[in-house]
Amino acid sequence: MRTKLLSYAAACMLAAGLTACSDAGGPLDDGGDAGSGNGPARVGVIMPDRTTTRWAGEDSKYLTAAFGQARIPVDIQNAEGDRRRFVRIGRAMVDSGVKVLIIANIDSASGKEVLDLARKKGIPTIDYDRLTLNGGADYYVSFDNVKVGELQAYGLIACLKVRKAVDPIVAQLNGSRSDNNASLFKRGYDAPLNTKYDAAQMRKGPEQWVPDWDPDQAAVIFEQMLDQAPGIRGVLAANDGIAGSVIKVLRKRNLNGVVPVTGQDATLEGLRNILTGEQCMTVYKAIKPQALSAAKLAIELFNGGKPIIPDKLKDPESGAYVPFVKLKPVAITARNINTVVVTDKFVSQADLCQGEYLAYCKKHGVGRPVSHSPK
Ligand code: GAL
Repeated sequence: MRTKLLSYAAACMLAAGLTACSDAGGPLDDGGDAGSGNGPARVGVIMPDRTTTRWAGEDSKYLTAAFGQARIPVDIQNAEGDRRRFVRIGRAMVDSGVKVLIIANIDSASGKEVLDLARKKGIPTIDYDRLTLNGGADYYVSFDNVKVGELQAYGLIACLKVRKAVDPIVAQLNGSRSDNNASLFKRGYDAPLNTKYDAAQMRKGPEQWVPDWDPDQAAVIFEQMLDQAPGIRGVLAANDGIAGSVIKVLRKRNLNGVVPVTGQDATLEGLRNILTGEQCMTVYKAIKPQALSAAKLAIELFNGGKPIIPDKLKDPESGAYVPFVKLKPVAITARNINTVVVTDKFVSQADLCQGEYLAYCKKHGVGRPVSHSPK
């Protein structure tokens, strides 16, 4: 991990060519004392944590490349899950000359604090992936998050059907309550699941939010759920990290592969669990187009433009309409890992199919040449 971080920082420097580009561990790390007001003109980006692989480097990698290509300096930092640190980084960026600010918040309260500071200085802002409620960002770049939840529910229902599960008890592990996306995912999966519960085709089991999407806490929560309701036969897990913890608990009770589990993010772990038959599905959110859309907006703003985005999203708290670049999520099962996720180079066949996974890759045709573009 350490090597990965160092090489990322180096790549960041090279791509931007000239700037205070850094991730955690860099010179502006603590948000400390960068507030001289005459730092380099640049785009500031704040990532929330490293709990999921995407925030640990995937989004940053594409953003760095895009700004590097445009020869616009970028300063990317990670708040490491610490809300106060998030605000400190934001304040330091705003005080030291960022011309555009992109944030993926940890929660709306700390996100809003940073957006307010930027607004006071007339710095345009972009909410990245997570909407900051009542934050008033100028733009929002994300996926259709309600659709993500719908894909999870329909995926689970399909897996339960294949297993011919009769009246199965379904447990729900939602994401972090502080993440607006987690509520949107839930809205998406609750509708189809409630229809099934109402029709007595499935039974609603225990449901809980997982603080900060933390997989360790998810394991504890699910262990308790299974103790209380040993008959759980389906799990709506809001992302692959949570799903991974659920599957580890299921393995201990010989229920892996018997109880379908959903996920999200198409992580290496999630995809492997799908190949082995222990995870039912995941949701692929192509990070590259998301990062490129945010970078495109930021570059225009950096150059003094005012991008026009036709789609709008209503902030449920403030009632304001935020221009919204809305991207499409895709449901992934063993059938389309190859044609979508591998073909897209989101993960490489070499990484996915190492060691014990090679046989599963062969079984599911991962690596088989794809003659047409799946999109
Ligand atoms: C969500 C995000 C997901 C996932 C999750 C856990 O807000 O949309 O892609 O990363 O947070 O961090």
